[in-house]
Amino acid sequence: MLILLAGGAGYIGSHTAVELMAAGHDVVIVDNYSNSSPEVIKRIEELAGRSVTACEADVRDSSAMRLIMKANPVDCVVHFAGLKAVGESMRKPVEYYRNNIDTTLTLLECMKECGVHNFVFSSSATVYGEENPYPYVETMPRGSCSNPYGWTKFMMEQILEDASRADPELSVILLRYFNPIGAHPSGRMGEDPQGIPNNLMPYVAQVAVGRRDHLTIFGNDYPTPDGTCRRDYIHVMDLAAGHVKAVEYAATRKGTDIFNLGTGTPCSVLDIVRAFEKNSGVPIKYEFGPRREGDLPEFWANADKARTVLGWTAARTLDDMCRDTWNWQRNNPKGYAS
Ligand code: NAD
Ligand code: UFG
Repeated sequence: MLILLAGGAGYIGSHTAVELMAAGHDVVIVDNYSNSSPEVIKRIEELAGRSVTACEADVRDSSAMRLIMKANPVDCVVHFAGLKAVGESMRKPVEYYRNNIDTTLTLLECMKECGVHNFVFSSSATVYGEENPYPYVETMPRGSCSNPYGWTKFMMEQILEDASRADPELSVILLRYFNPIGAHPSGRMGEDPQGIPNNLMPYVAQVAVGRRDHLTIFGNDYPTPDGTCRRDYIHVMDLAAGHVKAVEYAATRKGTDIFNLGTGTPCSVLDIVRAFEKNSGVPIKYEFGPRREGDLPEFWANADKARTVLGWTAARTLDDMCRDTWNWQRNNPKGYAS
């Protein structure tokens, strides 16, 4: 199949591109490089061993998207092209709603015009909100979100469900990611945040490589086994493999279906620090700070549905996640600019 990856030069999209090509599919990447770089395309080609069609465009630009879809007989669209920093979304809500909602609407409109019927969407565990008990199951209602980023995912899920209800030809798969970390085992691709990392793993990796002095752990008085928050960390290569299954499944059915992509196992901030130290041999300096506003004490996935319906499970361990992150970070201390 030919898969259009909107935002395919980003962290999750780039790993998914390599996995899709390894499974025998072809990809067209559309990215405006607002949070990535064209260097990523070279790395994807290097790892896949063949060339990739890459178009520099804003996914909100409907004339550009129409041209791209008319020139390439796309079977499925995977939509990664979002702004994703929770804190930034509170300072710039309008930018977040504009970018995230508009990209989704533009893709849906162009797909309809060009006869593309399969859509896989990068959603997030954040849509379960604050009310649902964990582990989260796909049948739970969406909850209320604590920030505009989360609300964009909530709204985009609703838009996609409505669109598939109205169009009997449309197949929509909502993938709710838990906490993606790790990197390609080659050390050639990984997460490359701009500025100070918001997320835990890239921050830990930058402390290890000497770019940051120490990690601040946000709170150690949570009602969890060691007092620090627990999350469901998932290796980005497992997540990428989940996309291959989802794209193939999308082509076999109609309507909306939802899958959690997580391991089903919670892990604390201190577990991450210790596992990273073990796998890198580098001590991580840290101190405890106050809680971060909006953080839930803990949540993780019930990943049964992805196993039974898609035949997918997360195979990689926390040691794999830390080893591959460190391999990427130490070989590319400044990310793709190294
Ligand atoms: P990323 O920022 O690395 O990748 C997103 C890509 O989209 C970037 O390359 C960026 O340049 C591009 N992009 C953004 N807006 C665009 C536009 N208007 N036109 C063209 N390109 C555009 O992020 P990621 O971590 O790979 O996340 C991918 C998706 O998964 C996002 O939608 C994100 O919200 C979602 N998600 C990520 C996480 C996570 O922890 N990384 C968790 C849950 C959900
Ligand atoms: N943390 C620290 N110090 C840091 C960074 C993070 O202690 O410097 C802690 C946080 O308090 C939290 C845990 O590490 O307890 C994980 O935090 P992340 O920021 O890495 O991840 P979140 O669980 O907050 O959010 C991530 C994505 C969201 C997504 C959510 C669920 O950033 O986009 O997972 O998928 F919605």
